[in-house]
Amino acid sequence: MIHDPNKVYIFDTTLRDGEQVPGCQLDTNQKIEIAKSLELLGVDVIEAGFPVSSPGDFNSVIELSKAVNHPIICALTRANKNDIDVAADALRFAKRPRIHTGIGASDFHIKHKFNSTREEILARAVDAVKYAKKYVEDIEFYAEDAGRADIEFLAKMVEAVIAAGATVVNIPDTNGYCLPDQYGSKILYLKENVKNIDNAIISVHCHNDLGLATANSIAGLQNGARQVECTINGIGERAGNTSMEEVVMIMKTHKVLGLNTQIDATQFYAISHMVRSQMNMPVQPNKAIVGGNAFSHSSGIHQDGFLKNRENYEIIKPEDVGFPDATIVLTARSGRAALNHHLERLGHKLEKEHLDIVYKQFLVLADSKQGINDTDLNQLVALHLA
Ligand code: KIV
Ligand code: ZN
Repeated sequence: MIHDPNKVYIFDTTLRDGEQVPGCQLDTNQKIEIAKSLELLGVDVIEAGFPVSSPGDFNSVIELSKAVNHPIICALTRANKNDIDVAADALRFAKRPRIHTGIGASDFHIKHKFNSTREEILARAVDAVKYAKKYVEDIEFYAEDAGRADIEFLAKMVEAVIAAGATVVNIPDTNGYCLPDQYGSKILYLKENVKNIDNAIISVHCHNDLGLATANSIAGLQNGARQVECTINGIGERAGNTSMEEVVMIMKTHKVLGLNTQIDATQFYAISHMVRSQMNMPVQPNKAIVGGNAFSHSSGIHQDGFLKNRENYEIIKPEDVGFPDATIVLTARSGRAALNHHLERLGHKLEKEHLDIVYKQFLVLADSKQGINDTDLNQLVALHLA
């Protein structure tokens, strides 16, 4: 098979980084249901959990490995033998297992988390990859807090772990610290300065502390990364991870990027709702792609333009992401075009002079209550005709 250099591998971590969110914990059956939906969606990798963290997580990785056929099943570890032994055990039924091991790469983490030195950390990184390689061929290495790491040390670490057998190198912006051009430059630096970089796939893993997770992930992909780590609805530690639906729809909308994925985006709305309800985690209405208002038009200027040609205000079709349809919301900011659209939908065809009168009454009503519904509209017309 010819390898497509523009293919971006979608690594879903809803069930690991996403599930770390307080209150979002799932039982094994719920995880299986989400994992099967992720498989249908077309993700390439499912990070199923952190097996050493609890018996429940260990068991979930076992059951997900049995339930899922096509995607790679990945298990997280720290850079130590016990974590890796437990992860390898949990992955024993996976058709395509991957161990995801790693250690802090920033001087801050090296000093204040590990109380160690760059040399010691480098040796632990290499040892972990070599040890994990005894169990599985596919090893992903994460250089935690790479966003704040010294770039020359990061390059040295990446080169060493690839030489030790890492097949994917994950460059996390663990604290959501970087600006897009800084993060993109980091990836480019690795691409240009790590001798053996073509022996591994570079992966981007961005957090959203400054609201830049998606922008940073795209910057990384533009500079040579070919795997993106993301979650449904962007859930994850603190302000969350890169949202899968955003990053995928950016690639589909901006064909000029020349990047493609195997994701069936028409399933986003359904899986977004499944994750919200299973995890008890609502999505804000203005969330891109899957938020309740993502395809609602409420001001008169927009509604008029939308009714003339949807593309005036629609860069993605709702059906492309499985959204039921765009909505024209009636508020006191709506114009005659929007009111007429809804009246016609309800079977009321009004001459212009009648529409003008009903519109005035509509504005009085809309100023006094939140949201105008079909009953309100029918009553307005009935009053006018009475
Ligand atoms: O954000 C991070 O650095 C992580 C790693 C464990 C991959 O989630
Ligand atoms: Zn993370």
